[in-house]
Order: sequence, then C-alpha cells, then structure tokens
Amino acid sequence: MDIILLGPPGAGKGTQAHRLMEHHGMRQLSTGDMLRAAVKAGTPVGIKAKAIMDAGELVSDEIVSELIDAELTAMGPDTGAIFDGYPRTEKQAEILDGLLAKHGRSLDHVIELDVDEDALVARITGRYTCANCGEGYHDTFKQPEVEGVCDKCGSTEFKRRPDDNEETVRHRMQVYRSETAPILPGYEARGIVSRVDGMAAIGDVTHAIDAILG
Ligand code: AP5
Ligand code: MG
Repeated sequence: MDIILLGPPGAGKGTQAHRLMEHHGMRQLSTGDMLRAAVKAGTPVGIKAKAIMDAGELVSDEIVSELIDAELTAMGPDTGAIFDGYPRTEKQAEILDGLLAKHGRSLDHVIELDVDEDALVARITGRYTCANCGEGYHDTFKQPEVEGVCDKCGSTEFKRRPDDNEETVRHRMQVYRSETAPILPGYEARGIVSRVDGMAAIGDVTHAIDAILG
C-alpha cells in the first residue's frame, strides 16, 4: 500500500509516518529528511539545498524527485511507501505518477491532515528530535519519559531545525497554500482523498489513519 500524508508544516506528517512505520511495516519517504541528511553530509545536493531550506522555499522538483526515485529503487516493490512532504507541487505530483508506474506501484490513499495554522506555529517552534535516532519530541506536547533522555534509543543528544523559527514557518505555510494545496483537487477527482482531524491528540490521529488504511 502506498499513501501520501499531506498537510502544512507542523501538521504531524513526520510524527504519523513514524507511527505508521511501526504499525504497518511501511517505509517513510520524507524528502525533508533526505535533504537534511544531504545537507549534513555536505553532498552537492545538500550544498545547493541548504540556503533554500533555511529560507523556507522549495528545492527544485527534479532534485527531490530523484531522491524519491532512488529510494523506491532501493526499497523494492513489497514495502508500502508513506510519502511525507512529497509531492509538494503540481509538477511533483505529475512526476510521482510516472515514478509509481515505473516501479510498478500505485497510490491507495492521500490523507490530508486538517489543521489550524496558528496552532502549528506553536507546534513547530517547540519541536526537537533525537540527534541519534530521529524520534520527534515537543517542549509541551511530547516530552521524553525521562527528561533529557530519548525514549527510543537512550541518547541524550537532541537537535532543532534551523527553519523552525516563527518567520520561516509562516513563509513555509504560505508556500504550502500557494504551491502544495493545489495538488489536492487532482487526487480528489480520483476519489482517494481522506481528511483527518490533525488537531486531535497524536494517538487519535493515528487511530483515524489506521481506520482508513484498514
Ligand atoms: P519538511 O521537512 O517536509 O517540512 P514541512 O513540510 O515544513 O513539515 P514539517 O516537517 O515541519 O512538519 P510535519 O508535518 O512533519 O510535523 P511533525 O510531525 O514534525 O520540509 C522542509 C524543507 O525541505 C521545505 O521547506 C523545503 O525547503 C524542503 N523540501 C522538502 N520536501 C520538498 C519537496 N518535496 N519539494 C521541494 N522542497 C522540499 O510535528 C510537528 C510538531 O508537532 C512535533 O513536535 C510533534 O511532536 C508535534 N505534534 C505532531 N502532531 C501533533 C498533535 N496531533 N498534537 C500535538 N502535537 C503534535
Ligand atoms: Mg516533517
């Protein structure tokens, strides 16, 4: 099964993708995570992407689509994909259709996380992740069980994203509205869009998605 998690910055795409990986044995394909890994490794893609990401703008359709293509090749046809943060433009949606066909896959669900943008700013500016395993946390909404220690791997190192400040977040939301939201009608016409209340508690959002996946 292949699904897209769609929603503005902070909607909970990454949080839910991690939970779905555990529940359904699917694989998260987050172009944001791939780009951040490229920035960290200092690859040519990373060097090109860094300033664009820090400004909250979109990296080119070609670069992100090549990253997705490579991941689909590596994971093989038997593992379900959770597309997180991709596609993000009408061009990417079109490219994804071609990539899925090329890899013998098809899209089962587009799950839109319905959220209140003002609340998202608080979510994002409070977000941090484990520097070792990537588990996500929040200053208020999801703290580790033992303060300063990752629940998952026991690491005591955490990090915050450079684009998680209020000004950049507001710009990322504007980019979402103008570039990404327009891809929804095309999926709606195919009858594969489901809407989930992304303002509910994290576990309730997961239950709602589980019910859609069956
Ligand atoms: P990307 O990494 O994809 O960021 P984003 O879309 O802006 O989304 P976020 O990761 O910020 O939010 P999320 O929905 O994953 O929320 P999360 O689960 O963490 O992209 C970053 C940049 O990379 C882009 O700006 C662009 O430059 C570039 N890029 C990436 N993909 C691209 C593409 N396809 N094309 C071009 N450029 C691309 O949750 C947020 C916080 O809220 C967490 O702390 C979490 O614990 C908390 N939380 C989650 N759910 C709940 C809940 N239900 N209740 C309370 N708290 C919650
Ligand atoms: Mg994310």
